[in-house]
Amino acid sequence: MISSSDLLNISQKFGTPIYVYDGNLIQQKFKNLQKHFQDFPHVIHYAMKANENPEILKILKKNGAKIDAVSTGEIQRALDIGFHPEDIIFTPSFPDFDEIDFAIAQNIHLHAGELYILDYLLKNYPKLSIGLRINPAYSIEGNQKIATAHQNSKFGIPLTDLDIILQKIKGKLRVESLHIHTGSDVKTWEDLAYSADVLFDLLPKFPDVKYLDLGSGFKVKYQKNDNSIDLNAYAHFIKSRLNDIPRNLTIHFEPGKYLVSEAGYLLVKVNGLKQGYQKKFAGVNSGFHHLIRPMYYDAYHEIVNLSNPNGKLETYDIVGQLCEEDTLAYDRQISEIKPQDILAIKNAGAYGFSMSSHYNLHAKPKEILVLDNQIKDISQTCL
Ligand SMILES: Cc1ncc(COP(=O)(O)O)c(C=O)c1O
Repeated sequence: MISSSDLLNISQKFGTPIYVYDGNLIQQKFKNLQKHFQDFPHVIHYAMKANENPEILKILKKNGAKIDAVSTGEIQRALDIGFHPEDIIFTPSFPDFDEIDFAIAQNIHLHAGELYILDYLLKNYPKLSIGLRINPAYSIEGNQKIATAHQNSKFGIPLTDLDIILQKIKGKLRVESLHIHTGSDVKTWEDLAYSADVLFDLLPKFPDVKYLDLGSGFKVKYQKNDNSIDLNAYAHFIKSRLNDIPRNLTIHFEPGKYLVSEAGYLLVKVNGLKQGYQKKFAGVNSGFHHLIRPMYYDAYHEIVNLSNPNGKLETYDIVGQLCEEDTLAYDRQISEIKPQDILAIKNAGAYGFSMSSHYNLHAKPKEILVLDNQIKDISQTCL
C-alpha cells in the first residue's frame, strides 16, 4: 500500500490536483479475482472504461487480463497497447454503424444489445459470429443509475424478443456468446447468480454458444460498513451450474471497479476555508470535473487530511471550484483543515479520471503510478 507520507511527497513533487495509482494493488486485485474463479475455465476482461490509462492497461495485460471495450476509441487504445483482437470484446450501447464496421474490420467480437444492430449485421455481415447482450428484466437494490438489467433499462435484448431473433438469424448469424451485466452496485451474490441463471437457462436455444459473459457487479467497499459480495459463494454457484451443462463452456467476466478503484487516490489542495451560516466549507483545487461520482452517484469517498492526520476532528463540506453545486463530501468529520493542506480522496481509481472533464476550462489532474517502489508520471498529456 502507498503510505500517507508517500502521497504527501508525491503531492509536493508533482503538484495537485493529481491522481496517484498503486500498481501493485491492481496486480494483487487481479490475482485475487483469478483465485476466486480458479475452479472453472474463465477469462477476465478488464472494463477499461473504469480507468483507461495506458500504463494501467499494460499492468493488467502483463498479468493476463483481456479487455472489455465500449467504444472504438477504447478498442484502438487496447490494440495500441498490444492486446490481440481476439482478447477484446466490444459491448457498445446504441453504436453507430461506423463503429460496428470498425470493430468487425479489426476482428473484434461484438455483443449486440439492440435489434437494429442485428438487422444491420444480417444485411452486411450475414455470416458473422456474434454475442447477444440479454436484458433479464431483473431489478436489484442499490444505486439505480448503475442498475442495468431491469426491465426499464436501455441495455440488452428483452427475453421476449429472443424467439423472433432466433427465427431471423437462423442459418446466418452465429451466436457464440451470451452476455449479461446486472449492474455496478449489486448488493448480494444471489443477485449476480440470478442473472447468470438466466443465461444458463437459455443455453438449449443457443447450441453454438461457447462462452457466457457474466459482466461484473463486483463491489468494493467505499465505507467501512458497506457489504461486499461473497465471491466464493458466487464462484461455487457458477461451478455447480457448469457441472450440469453437457457442453464445455468458458465463463467471462468484465470487472472494472474491483480491479482499480481502491488503488487510486485523488490528491487535492485546500485553497481556502469559509464559515457559512451553518456549514464550514473547505474549498479545494478540484471538483466534480475531476471526480464526478459524489455529485452524480451520491457516492461516498473517504477523505483524509494528509497534512494533519491526527488533529481534532471537525465537520466540513469539502467543495470544489465549479460554478454550481460541486461537493465532494457533505458534513464530513475530518482532522482539522488549514489552507494549503493536502487532502487524499480515497477509492478514486475507477471512474475518476476516466469520467473527468475540462468543465469551466480547468485542466485535468496529472496521473502518477507507483509500482514496485518506482514513481512514474503517467499523465495523459494529450487530454
Ligand atoms: C457492460 C459492462 N461491463 C462491465 C462494467 C464494469 O462494471 P464495474 O466497474 O462495476 O466492475 C460495466 C460498467 O458500467 C458495464 O456497463
